[in-house]
Amino acid sequence: MYKNSILDELDELIKSEKTAEYKLPLRCGVDLGTANIVIAVVDADGKPVAGIVNESKVVKDGIVVDYVGAIQNLKKMKAELEERLGTELINAATAIPPGILVKNAKGFVSVVEGAGFEVTNIVDEPTAAATVIGIKDGAVVDIGGGTTGISVLKNGEVIFTADEPTGGTHMTLAVAGYYGVDKAEAEKMKKDRSHQSDIYSIVVPVVEKMSTIVKGFLKDHPTDTVYVVGGASLFDDFEETFNKVTGVECIKAEKALLVTPYGIALNCK
Ligand SMILES: Nc1ncnc2c1ncn2[C@@H]1O[C@H](COP(=O)(O)OP(=O)(O)OP(=O)(O)O)[C@@H](O)[C@H]1O
Ligand SMILES: [Mg+2]
Repeated sequence: MYKNSILDELDELIKSEKTAEYKLPLRCGVDLGTANIVIAVVDADGKPVAGIVNESKVVKDGIVVDYVGAIQNLKKMKAELEERLGTELINAATAIPPGILVKNAKGFVSVVEGAGFEVTNIVDEPTAAATVIGIKDGAVVDIGGGTTGISVLKNGEVIFTADEPTGGTHMTLAVAGYYGVDKAEAEKMKKDRSHQSDIYSIVVPVVEKMSTIVKGFLKDHPTDTVYVVGGASLFDDFEETFNKVTGVECIKAEKALLVTPYGIALNCK
Protein backbone atom coordinates (compact mmCIF):
# COMPACT_ATOMS: atom_id res chain seq x y z
CA MET A 1 0.00 0.00 0.00
CA TYR A 2 1.29 3.46 -0.90
CA LYS A 3 0.77 5.85 2.03
CA ASN A 4 1.66 9.53 2.12
CA SER A 5 0.94 11.82 5.07
CA ILE A 6 0.72 14.84 2.73
CA LEU A 7 -2.33 13.24 1.10
CA ASP A 8 -3.81 12.67 4.58
CA GLU A 9 -3.37 16.41 5.20
CA LEU A 10 -5.12 17.28 1.93
CA ASP A 11 -7.93 14.83 2.74
CA GLU A 12 -8.36 16.44 6.17
CA LEU A 13 -8.46 19.95 4.65
CA ILE A 14 -11.14 18.84 2.16
CA LYS A 15 -13.30 17.11 4.78
CA SER A 16 -13.00 19.85 7.44
CA GLU A 17 -13.35 22.65 4.82
CA LYS A 18 -10.35 24.31 6.47
CA THR A 19 -7.18 25.91 5.16
CA ALA A 20 -3.53 25.60 6.18
CA GLU A 21 -1.04 28.46 6.51
CA TYR A 22 0.62 29.19 3.21
CA LYS A 23 3.48 30.84 1.39
CA LEU A 24 2.44 32.69 -1.81
CA PRO A 25 2.08 32.08 -4.70
CA LEU A 26 -0.73 29.56 -4.52
CA ARG A 27 -1.10 26.98 -7.27
CA CYS A 28 -4.18 24.94 -8.16
CA GLY A 29 -4.69 21.53 -9.66
CA VAL A 30 -8.04 21.11 -11.40
CA ASP A 31 -9.09 17.51 -12.06
CA LEU A 32 -12.21 17.36 -14.25
CA GLY A 33 -13.08 13.70 -13.82
CA THR A 34 -15.91 11.49 -15.00
CA ALA A 35 -17.14 11.04 -11.43
CA ASN A 36 -15.60 13.93 -9.49
CA ILE A 37 -14.32 17.45 -10.00
CA VAL A 38 -11.46 18.14 -7.59
CA ILE A 39 -9.50 21.34 -6.95
CA ALA A 40 -6.35 20.91 -4.88
CA VAL A 41 -4.51 24.07 -3.79
CA VAL A 42 -0.82 23.98 -2.88
CA ASP A 43 1.49 26.78 -1.80
CA ALA A 44 4.92 27.86 -3.06
CA ASP A 45 6.52 24.85 -1.33
CA GLY A 46 3.98 22.36 -2.67
CA LYS A 47 2.26 22.04 0.70
CA PRO A 48 -1.50 21.39 0.47
CA VAL A 49 -3.47 24.38 1.79
CA ALA A 50 -7.06 23.69 0.72
CA GLY A 51 -9.18 21.47 -1.45
CA ILE A 52 -12.70 20.74 -2.61
CA VAL A 53 -14.47 17.79 -4.28
CA ASN A 54 -17.80 17.86 -6.13
CA GLU A 55 -19.57 15.02 -7.85
CA SER A 56 -19.70 15.62 -11.56
CA LYS A 57 -21.47 14.40 -14.66
CA VAL A 58 -19.84 16.90 -17.03
CA VAL A 59 -17.11 14.65 -18.44
CA LYS A 60 -17.54 11.27 -20.17
CA ASP A 61 -14.73 9.09 -21.53
CA GLY A 62 -12.31 12.00 -21.71
CA ILE A 63 -14.73 14.44 -23.35
CA VAL A 64 -16.46 17.45 -21.78
CA VAL A 65 -20.13 16.70 -22.45
CA ASP A 66 -21.69 19.56 -20.44
CA TYR A 67 -19.58 22.63 -21.09
CA VAL A 68 -21.81 25.21 -19.36
CA GLY A 69 -22.49 22.94 -16.38
CA ALA A 70 -18.76 22.28 -15.99
CA ILE A 71 -17.90 26.00 -15.93
CA GLN A 72 -20.70 26.82 -13.48
CA ASN A 73 -19.70 24.01 -11.15
CA LEU A 74 -16.01 24.89 -11.24
CA LYS A 75 -16.69 28.61 -10.75
CA LYS A 76 -18.65 27.83 -7.59
CA MET A 77 -15.91 25.58 -6.27
CA LYS A 78 -13.26 28.23 -7.01
CA ALA A 79 -15.28 30.93 -5.24
CA GLU A 80 -15.77 28.68 -2.20
CA LEU A 81 -12.02 28.06 -1.91
CA GLU A 82 -11.22 31.75 -2.39
CA GLU A 83 -13.57 32.60 0.45
CA ARG A 84 -11.94 30.04 2.72
CA LEU A 85 -8.44 31.23 1.82
CA GLY A 86 -9.22 34.96 1.72
CA THR A 87 -7.34 35.36 -1.54
CA GLU A 88 -7.90 35.02 -5.28
CA LEU A 89 -6.86 31.82 -7.04
CA ILE A 90 -5.41 32.40 -10.50
CA ASN A 91 -2.83 29.87 -11.65
CA ALA A 92 -3.98 26.35 -12.34
CA ALA A 93 -2.81 23.21 -14.02
CA THR A 94 -5.29 20.73 -15.37
CA ALA A 95 -5.12 17.14 -16.55
CA ILE A 96 -6.38 15.15 -19.47
CA PRO A 97 -6.62 11.40 -19.85
CA PRO A 98 -3.57 10.27 -21.86
CA GLY A 99 -4.12 9.73 -25.54
CA ILE A 100 -7.18 11.95 -25.99
CA LEU A 101 -7.46 14.06 -29.09
CA VAL A 102 -6.02 17.58 -29.09
CA LYS A 103 -9.43 19.11 -29.73
CA ASN A 104 -10.82 17.37 -26.63
CA ALA A 105 -7.91 18.60 -24.52
CA LYS A 106 -8.91 22.13 -25.60
CA GLY A 107 -12.36 21.46 -24.11
CA PHE A 108 -10.80 20.83 -20.68
CA VAL A 109 -8.67 23.97 -20.89
CA SER A 110 -11.64 26.12 -21.99
CA VAL A 111 -13.64 24.96 -18.97
CA VAL A 112 -10.84 25.80 -16.54
CA GLU A 113 -10.28 29.19 -18.22
CA GLY A 114 -14.03 29.76 -18.36
CA ALA A 115 -14.13 29.40 -14.59
CA GLY A 116 -11.57 32.22 -14.28
CA PHE A 117 -8.26 30.39 -13.95
CA GLU A 118 -5.13 30.92 -16.00
CA VAL A 119 -4.00 27.52 -17.22
CA THR A 120 -0.22 27.29 -16.81
CA ASN A 121 0.22 23.60 -17.57
CA ILE A 122 -1.60 20.55 -18.91
CA VAL A 123 -0.46 17.12 -17.78
CA ASP A 124 -1.88 13.69 -18.28
CA GLU A 125 -3.50 12.06 -15.26
CA PRO A 126 -1.16 9.14 -14.49
CA THR A 127 1.85 11.40 -15.03
CA ALA A 128 0.42 13.80 -12.42
CA ALA A 129 0.04 10.87 -10.05
CA ALA A 130 3.64 9.79 -10.76
CA THR A 131 4.84 13.24 -9.63
CA VAL A 132 3.35 12.59 -6.18
CA ILE A 133 4.67 9.05 -5.87
CA GLY A 134 8.03 10.28 -7.11
CA ILE A 135 9.04 7.18 -9.04
CA LYS A 136 11.70 7.39 -11.74
CA ASP A 137 11.16 3.93 -13.20
CA GLY A 138 7.96 1.93 -13.40
CA ALA A 139 4.31 2.46 -14.19
CA VAL A 140 1.43 4.42 -12.68
CA VAL A 141 -2.12 3.42 -13.51
CA ASP A 142 -5.08 5.75 -12.83
CA ILE A 143 -8.46 4.00 -12.79
CA GLY A 144 -11.17 6.60 -12.29
CA GLY A 145 -14.86 6.71 -13.04
CA GLY A 146 -14.50 6.45 -16.79
CA THR A 147 -11.08 5.33 -17.85
CA THR A 148 -8.01 3.20 -17.14
CA GLY A 149 -4.90 5.23 -17.95
CA ILE A 150 -1.22 4.43 -17.67
CA SER A 151 2.04 6.32 -17.63
CA VAL A 152 5.34 4.42 -17.90
CA LEU A 153 8.53 6.12 -16.71
CA LYS A 154 12.18 5.35 -17.38
CA ASN A 155 15.02 7.32 -15.76
CA GLY A 156 12.45 9.91 -14.68
CA GLU A 157 11.11 10.44 -18.21
CA VAL A 158 7.60 9.50 -19.31
CA ILE A 159 8.17 7.07 -22.19
CA PHE A 160 4.61 5.82 -22.77
CA THR A 161 1.05 6.86 -21.96
CA ALA A 162 -2.25 5.27 -22.94
CA ASP A 163 -5.88 5.19 -21.92
CA GLU A 164 -8.93 2.94 -22.42
CA PRO A 165 -12.55 3.67 -21.49
CA THR A 166 -13.15 1.26 -18.59
CA GLY A 167 -13.62 2.61 -15.06
CA GLY A 168 -15.79 2.67 -11.95
CA THR A 169 -18.89 3.58 -13.98
CA HIS A 170 -18.69 0.18 -15.67
CA MET A 171 -18.57 -1.47 -12.22
CA THR A 172 -21.70 0.47 -11.27
CA LEU A 173 -23.44 -0.77 -14.43
CA ALA A 174 -22.55 -4.36 -13.52
CA VAL A 175 -24.09 -3.89 -10.04
CA ALA A 176 -27.19 -2.19 -11.51
CA GLY A 177 -27.69 -5.06 -13.95
CA TYR A 178 -27.24 -7.76 -11.32
CA TYR A 179 -29.68 -6.29 -8.78
CA GLY A 180 -32.05 -4.66 -11.27
CA VAL A 181 -31.64 -1.21 -9.68
CA ASP A 182 -30.92 2.19 -11.24
CA LYS A 183 -27.42 3.63 -11.53
CA ALA A 184 -27.70 5.94 -8.51
CA GLU A 185 -28.78 3.07 -6.25
CA ALA A 186 -26.08 0.79 -7.69
CA GLU A 187 -23.42 3.46 -7.08
CA LYS A 188 -24.48 3.64 -3.42
CA MET A 189 -24.43 -0.15 -3.05
CA LYS A 190 -21.01 -0.33 -4.71
CA LYS A 191 -19.43 2.05 -2.20
CA ASP A 192 -21.14 0.51 0.84
CA ARG A 193 -18.28 -1.30 2.55
CA SER A 194 -20.54 -3.59 4.58
CA HIS A 195 -21.41 -5.64 1.46
CA GLN A 196 -18.01 -5.48 -0.19
CA SER A 197 -17.45 -9.18 -0.78
CA ASP A 198 -20.88 -9.62 -2.45
CA ILE A 199 -20.31 -6.54 -4.58
CA TYR A 200 -16.77 -7.53 -5.46
CA SER A 201 -17.92 -10.85 -6.89
CA ILE A 202 -20.18 -8.87 -9.26
CA VAL A 203 -17.57 -6.30 -10.33
CA VAL A 204 -14.63 -8.72 -10.58
CA PRO A 205 -15.05 -9.19 -14.36
CA VAL A 206 -14.63 -5.42 -14.72
CA VAL A 207 -11.46 -5.52 -12.59
CA GLU A 208 -10.22 -8.36 -14.81
CA LYS A 209 -10.94 -6.23 -17.87
CA MET A 210 -9.04 -3.28 -16.36
CA SER A 211 -6.13 -5.58 -15.51
CA THR A 212 -6.12 -7.03 -19.02
CA ILE A 213 -5.99 -3.49 -20.42
CA VAL A 214 -2.98 -2.73 -18.21
CA LYS A 215 -1.33 -6.04 -19.16
CA GLY A 216 -1.69 -5.01 -22.82
CA PHE A 217 -0.15 -1.60 -22.11
CA LEU A 218 2.79 -3.29 -20.36
CA LYS A 219 3.55 -5.74 -23.16
CA ASP A 220 6.08 -3.42 -24.77
CA HIS A 221 7.05 -1.75 -21.48
CA PRO A 222 7.61 -4.49 -18.91
CA THR A 223 7.92 -3.47 -15.26
CA ASP A 224 8.00 -5.32 -11.91
CA THR A 225 5.60 -3.06 -10.04
CA VAL A 226 2.64 -0.88 -10.92
CA TYR A 227 1.29 1.88 -8.68
CA VAL A 228 -2.48 2.08 -8.94
CA VAL A 229 -4.50 5.19 -8.05
CA GLY A 230 -8.07 6.36 -8.74
CA GLY A 231 -11.39 5.61 -7.04
CA ALA A 232 -12.15 2.37 -8.88
CA SER A 233 -9.19 0.66 -7.16
CA LEU A 234 -10.72 1.10 -3.70
CA PHE A 235 -11.88 -2.51 -3.30
CA ASP A 236 -9.95 -4.60 -0.74
CA ASP A 237 -9.40 -7.49 -3.15
CA PHE A 238 -8.46 -5.30 -6.10
CA GLU A 239 -4.70 -6.04 -5.87
CA GLU A 240 -5.21 -9.78 -5.74
CA THR A 241 -7.18 -9.80 -9.00
CA PHE A 242 -4.82 -7.33 -10.62
CA ASN A 243 -1.70 -9.33 -9.65
CA LYS A 244 -3.23 -12.57 -10.92
CA VAL A 245 -4.17 -11.16 -14.33
CA THR A 246 -1.10 -9.00 -15.00
CA GLY A 247 1.59 -11.03 -13.23
CA VAL A 248 2.93 -7.71 -11.94
CA GLU A 249 2.88 -6.50 -8.34
CA CYS A 250 0.20 -3.87 -7.72
CA ILE A 251 0.89 -1.17 -5.12
CA LYS A 252 -2.37 0.59 -4.36
CA ALA A 253 -2.58 4.12 -2.97
CA GLU A 254 -4.45 4.52 0.31
CA LYS A 255 -5.82 7.95 -0.66
CA ALA A 256 -6.60 6.73 -4.17
CA LEU A 257 -8.93 9.64 -5.01
CA LEU A 258 -6.45 12.41 -4.18
CA VAL A 259 -3.13 11.35 -5.70
CA THR A 260 -3.89 12.65 -9.20
CA PRO A 261 -5.50 15.99 -8.13
CA TYR A 262 -2.57 16.74 -5.78
CA GLY A 263 -0.11 15.79 -8.55
CA ILE A 264 -1.85 18.17 -10.96
CA ALA A 265 -1.42 21.02 -8.46
CA LEU A 266 2.29 20.18 -8.06
CA ASN A 267 2.58 20.48 -11.86
CA CYS A 268 1.15 24.03 -11.83
CA LYS A 269 3.94 26.39 -12.74
N1 LIG B 1 -15.13 3.28 -1.74
C1 LIG B 1 -15.25 3.05 -3.06
N2 LIG B 1 -15.36 1.78 -3.51
C2 LIG B 1 -15.47 1.53 -4.82
N3 LIG B 1 -15.48 2.48 -5.78
C3 LIG B 1 -15.36 3.75 -5.38
C4 LIG B 1 -15.24 4.11 -4.00
N4 LIG B 1 -15.13 5.46 -3.91
C5 LIG B 1 -15.20 5.93 -5.17
N5 LIG B 1 -15.34 4.91 -6.05
C6 LIG B 1 -15.48 5.00 -7.51
O1 LIG B 1 -14.37 5.68 -8.04
C7 LIG B 1 -14.74 6.39 -9.20
C8 LIG B 1 -14.26 7.83 -9.07
O2 LIG B 1 -12.88 7.83 -9.00
P1 LIG B 1 -12.05 9.12 -9.43
O3 LIG B 1 -12.47 10.30 -8.65
O4 LIG B 1 -10.61 8.71 -9.40
O5 LIG B 1 -12.57 9.26 -10.94
P2 LIG B 1 -12.56 10.51 -11.91
O6 LIG B 1 -11.22 11.16 -11.81
O7 LIG B 1 -13.74 11.36 -11.66
O8 LIG B 1 -12.74 9.78 -13.33
P3 LIG B 1 -11.78 9.70 -14.61
O9 LIG B 1 -10.38 9.88 -14.15
O10 LIG B 1 -12.00 8.31 -15.18
O11 LIG B 1 -12.29 10.76 -15.52
C9 LIG B 1 -16.27 6.32 -9.30
O12 LIG B 1 -16.63 5.37 -10.28
C10 LIG B 1 -16.67 5.85 -7.91
O13 LIG B 1 -17.84 5.09 -7.94
MG1 LIG C 1 -9.41 10.88 -12.68
